[in-house]
Amino acid sequence: MADWEKRRAWLRCLNGAVPEELDTPLAVAKYETAAYFSGGRKVEIRLDRELGEGYEIIETENGWLVRGGETGALYGAYALIRACEAGEEIPVGVQKPYYGLRMINCWDNMDGTVERGYAGRSMWFEGNRFDYEPARIRQLGRMLGSVGINVFCINNVNVHQPAQHLLDSLLPDAAAFAALLRPFGVRLMLSIDFSQPMQNGVPTADPLDERVQSWWADTAKRVWTAIPDLAGFLVKADSEHRPGPNTYGRTHAEGANMLARAIAPYGGSLVWRAFVYNCMQDWRDTVTDRPRAAYDLYRPLDGAFDSNVVLQVKYGPYDFQVREPVSPLFFGMEKTPMAAELQLAQEYTGHQIDLYYMGPAWREFFDQMGKKRVKFIAAVSNLGRDDCWTGHPFAAANLFAFGLFAWNPDADPETVLRQWVKLTYALPAGQENKLAVLLMQSRAVYENYTAPLGLCWMVRPENHYGPSPYGYEFQLWGTYNRADRNAVGVDRTANGTGYVEQYPEPLRSLYADPQTCPDNLLLFFHRLHYGFVMKDGRTLIQRIYDDHFLGCEQAEAMAADLSALDLPSPDREEAARRMEAQVQNAREWRDVTNTFFHRFSGVDDAQGRKIYD
Ligand code: GCU
Repeated sequence: MADWEKRRAWLRCLNGAVPEELDTPLAVAKYETAAYFSGGRKVEIRLDRELGEGYEIIETENGWLVRGGETGALYGAYALIRACEAGEEIPVGVQKPYYGLRMINCWDNMDGTVERGYAGRSMWFEGNRFDYEPARIRQLGRMLGSVGINVFCINNVNVHQPAQHLLDSLLPDAAAFAALLRPFGVRLMLSIDFSQPMQNGVPTADPLDERVQSWWADTAKRVWTAIPDLAGFLVKADSEHRPGPNTYGRTHAEGANMLARAIAPYGGSLVWRAFVYNCMQDWRDTVTDRPRAAYDLYRPLDGAFDSNVVLQVKYGPYDFQVREPVSPLFFGMEKTPMAAELQLAQEYTGHQIDLYYMGPAWREFFDQMGKKRVKFIAAVSNLGRDDCWTGHPFAAANLFAFGLFAWNPDADPETVLRQWVKLTYALPAGQENKLAVLLMQSRAVYENYTAPLGLCWMVRPENHYGPSPYGYEFQLWGTYNRADRNAVGVDRTANGTGYVEQYPEPLRSLYADPQTCPDNLLLFFHRLHYGFVMKDGRTLIQRIYDDHFLGCEQAEAMAADLSALDLPSPDREEAARRMEAQVQNAREWRDVTNTFFHRFSGVDDAQGRKIYD
């Protein structure tokens, strides 16, 4: 049996593979419902193009009628199967997705590596070409479609040279790949390099140069002829040494609009990432403040972007840290269509070794941001060629939950998680509950032993796993905690870098005052001495110690809870192995961080627990 056939994720109830000859979402919807309900209740699938991606489930005498547009009917079929399998109430009535583009961004390189990938090598690239089993990719499409994900960007935003051939010599292969996902309502997207015309005989990549404009227009024509439903291009420009319009003294609106105009005739979206900051900062410079960068750059450009440009903004102003305030850009761009960027890959959140269910973090994000501020949503992939596809078998819960949150940002993280547990494992009821409880607390536990109180970047710079309190301190990345013997944190109030001024009220005042700022963001916004008295009466230094001790104890308790679950093999062994590593990791974080602050502050733990000198 091939490894992709062995995997479970939440497709456990969908037996076998969808036959190859079924090549439309409608045909797949009919197949899936007929196979799942065989011998039982009848399901009729009916095309109603007006519903588009939406669907309506209607109860009939002996089953259900699912009406929907081409992909809507498929989503309705999967929603019905999910609810039946999980023993939940059937979602009768009309349902429509909240966000138009529900995208996964893969950071797969053509050489088969995956940037920040923790689930093995790429599922489709190897040796600078496509290399995959078509049946596995169809299974992937089924998995994505079953939770409503409709765009899949297959190559890294850092477009290394071989990936440029996706627009020429590898285009037929990209088209063949797109055809495997299409029956599941999933459209392809490609990451492009802003300077690509220069690899093809054009002496510049200046967006205002006519030769550049016509090169992109010709390229777009060629690409959309091969893949007529391509969702668009994704661009990382002027960011971390990637080329961009700044090289030519042009604005990001000029750069993005040039590309947007080339692809507009084909209905493509130009997704332009807002992850732009000075990655060559001198640590002695206390005026430049990285979290300010995106707002300072883009806010003056609001209104200057063409209508098919989508500005893709990471959820926080830094870079996928465990805890960040919501990016102020979401409040600052009133006229520009935006996508929020989440990260399923556990780059700073445990490398798919440590448990980290993201639903609770996303609930907070959507509540703070206000879901209406963005039209689209994206997440960096956590997929790879590993047997279970996500490194840790439980990390699949994040991909599943992303699909359901992208469909409905009001989703309840626990309800979503419980559905995933039921669809993935056939556990006795009490054990289902235990697994759900374990995962629901996982993010808070990870935060406690790694980065409580809004401290960011205390992680090993070389791989972003494990503690290194000063690892980023003297680097070029604008990532400082400025801990010394008196105090820790960065003053981002009006007296400091002024970052807090980028927020509208009431957030601005809430964050600006250490008495009202939430504890979990305190050291993100403020520089405080170790004796600062927190809302609960403890001193700052004591909270730092307490949270690290607590997180570590919680991780040890999670290990005990996990070992009591009758998970099927090999998930049981895989989860146990990773949990052992997590507990080691938690102890390491506790001891390294507590020792670091003990040496600086000279303050002993009030409870006399072991802190190494
Ligand atoms: C992070 C990550 C990089 C990635 C970058 C991005 O900095 O570490 O690997 O390229 O984000 O989002 O572009």
